[in-house]
Amino acid sequence: MRVLGIETSCDETAASVVALDGVSAPEILSNVVLSQIEEHAAFGGVVPEIAARAHVEALDGIVEAALEDSKVSLDEVDAIAATAGPGLVGGLIVGLMTAKAIAAAANKPLIAINHLEGHALTARLTDGLDFPYLLLLVSGGHTQIVAVRSVGDYQRWATTIDDALGEAFDKTAKMLGLPYPGGPNVEKAAASGDPRRFAFPRPMKGSAQPDFSFSGLKTAVRQAATAIAPLSDQDVADICASFQAAVADALGDRVARALARFRREFPRQVKPALVVAGGVAANRTIKATLEALCSQAGFAFVAPPQKLCTDNAAMIAWAGIERLRAGIADENAADFVPRSRWPLDSVSAPLVGSGRRGAKA
Ligand code: KG4
Ligand code: ZN
Repeated sequence: MRVLGIETSCDETAASVVALDGVSAPEILSNVVLSQIEEHAAFGGVVPEIAARAHVEALDGIVEAALEDSKVSLDEVDAIAATAGPGLVGGLIVGLMTAKAIAAAANKPLIAINHLEGHALTARLTDGLDFPYLLLLVSGGHTQIVAVRSVGDYQRWATTIDDALGEAFDKTAKMLGLPYPGGPNVEKAAASGDPRRFAFPRPMKGSAQPDFSFSGLKTAVRQAATAIAPLSDQDVADICASFQAAVADALGDRVARALARFRREFPRQVKPALVVAGGVAANRTIKATLEALCSQAGFAFVAPPQKLCTDNAAMIAWAGIERLRAGIADENAADFVPRSRWPLDSVSAPLVGSGRRGAKA
């Protein structure tokens, strides 16, 4: 089985070919990702119109490059899988329409993929993980804990009631005059800072509600920065370190709850696993916190390679393969309309404000 995947939901234009022969492990035959970071940097965040235009300009070449790298011709591909939501609608239209055109011209089936499902299933591509497992998705647009039970069967156990975690990093960076994207720059500055200098709040810590919240922390950072302005480099480093410590602590509290729930709901799972995905998972302080939590709770900690944790098309091609294999590819995908909002789990009620302000809102 070979599937061509296309991803255009935010600020990466990506295409990939993934193969599965049913005997050996799946193989990523190509994985081409063009980041638009430079185009958006001057604006301090992703500008939807610029993103859509950049996808239009780049996508043909990226698909061609992915096919060429994979040494597979379009004829030899079994299906085309494209991200159909959630995300910025301009980009989704570009990717899905291109995929529809390719599928129609080459007479191949089209599979409309939920971007979050791509993230959710990546650990099966990289680590051959068995169901069920727990997923922590922390990116610029999403902050969720999801119980991944099987292909197409996801239960959202927690989401953010305001900002996404990556968004909180990006806004903190902006307030402190650090360049976009904020996350890596906050982490870099934090390395020479004192995490105890500012006692920032740990939002939701100990709360009976399972969700995340980061906007109060952002406000606390703004107040602290305003109170001691103008900021020296050391002040910026101390704020970053204190912010990162608060985030790790709050995140750890929420994840610990979810690990305990997983134990209760899946008692037969001898060695359960927590999988992390999304750009924020690159943060070493956060990673170390999660690793320690998992080892205490007897969970395996699975962090796919960073290139496959952040947005890419291999995860979309792989989700296509999983759906084909499970016999749940949508037969009417050619009529699928892109969805800027598309929860993975249709059962959990949407939370007011959740994930609706980020780049992927
Ligand atoms: O998954 P991703 O590449 O794109 C999506 O949002 O889907 O995640 C990007 C987010 C940005 O908000 C960025 O600031 C954050 O991940 N990020 C980090 C780090 N690297 C990227 N946040 C904290 N620490 C990092 N090292
Ligand atoms: Zn993503």
